Amino acid sequence: MKVVITGGTGMLGRRLALRLLANSELIGHSGDKERIDRLILVDAYEPVEPTPADPRVEIIKADICDPKVLDKIIDDNVDSIFHFAAVVSGGAEEDFNLGYNVNLDGTRNLFESCKKVNATPRVIFTSSLAVYGGFRDIVDDTPLLPQSSYGAQKAIGEIMLNDYTRKGFLDGRSLRLPTIVVRPGKPNRAASGFASSILREPLQGSKAICPVSPETRMLILSPRRAVQAFIDVHNAESDHLGFRRGVMMNGISPSIGEMVFALKDIAGSKIADRIIWKPDSEIQRMVDSWPWFANGIIGRELGFEPDESIEEVVQSFIEDELDGNILV
Ligand SMILES: NC(=O)c1ccc[n+]([C@@H]2O[C@H](COP(=O)([O-])OP(=O)(O)OC[C@H]3O[C@@H](n4cnc5c(N)ncnc54)[C@H](O)[C@@H]3O)[C@@H](O)[C@H]2O)c1
Repeated sequence: MKVVITGGTGMLGRRLALRLLANSELIGHSGDKERIDRLILVDAYEPVEPTPADPRVEIIKADICDPKVLDKIIDDNVDSIFHFAAVVSGGAEEDFNLGYNVNLDGTRNLFESCKKVNATPRVIFTSSLAVYGGFRDIVDDTPLLPQSSYGAQKAIGEIMLNDYTRKGFLDGRSLRLPTIVVRPGKPNRAASGFASSILREPLQGSKAICPVSPETRMLILSPRRAVQAFIDVHNAESDHLGFRRGVMMNGISPSIGEMVFALKDIAGSKIADRIIWKPDSEIQRMVDSWPWFANGIIGRELGFEPDESIEEVVQSFIEDELDGNILV
């Protein structure tokens, strides 16, 4: 199989690539598991983390805003595409044009490249719970009423994916993700970045700023569970999705106070005391426009499993990213 990941050297793209290389297979056109022979990671920027060293991997530095580049990568042999390249929430809110160029036009470029080839690749589009806007509780049928440019761009991307699928140009599936916590590495421009910082930085010996109140709730999912959900949605039978190609990924909804409590429980008060509380009304406003509780039945029926607890989220970060070591 030839598999492409756009944004492939980013946080989720890289982790998915490593998991695909370890598993070596995905469900192919035959409906059975097929071997992955080529894994192409497309990204516009230099990788922040080491890229996978594997003969099946090819890294292509390319901007998805350039349709000609995508036309060269997406050929008749492409079986699966995971579309992760995006300007994330804070970035898309700050730079309106860049957000629409990458998140909307870049996505359309990719779908157009799929339309031109003699193949019907499975395309996994990474959407976000930001498509729902200000609803506190969300279910599968909650209307998409985004309250940010990023959420609007993701909602439009989902609708385009449905239409390109309906026309038979691709076999699309969108996964609406909650905020990924704990995000490893350095903070990115996502408005939700603090939710990872308040766990990641203290565990690695640094201070972190928390800009929202302890009562604020966030819907979260660990990178480990997110990567598994991408593989699950890719491998799901097309008929199970029907005309609704977007699936909501449930998360857990700890309050920020509960997250800090879990950190204290696992790592001790000295580490939890590294959090500095500094309210920021703009971040609080954005976070308050995101849903708090998700109860999607379709994802559950398809077998997508969120983390069981905030403790599991913290532990999986310590195991996967810190090799079990906390800096006291
Ligand atoms: N991390 C989260 O909490 C979260 C939640 C919901 C949805 N998502 C979505 O998941 C996807 C992956 O997120 P992530 O956390 O890995 O983000 P990330 O920022 O780590 O990765 C995105 C990658 O896209 C690349 N990119 C940006 N513009 C590009 C362009 N024009 N052409 C090619 N590459 C470009 C970046 O260099 C980066 O490597 C994104 O689409 C994001 O919107 C993430």
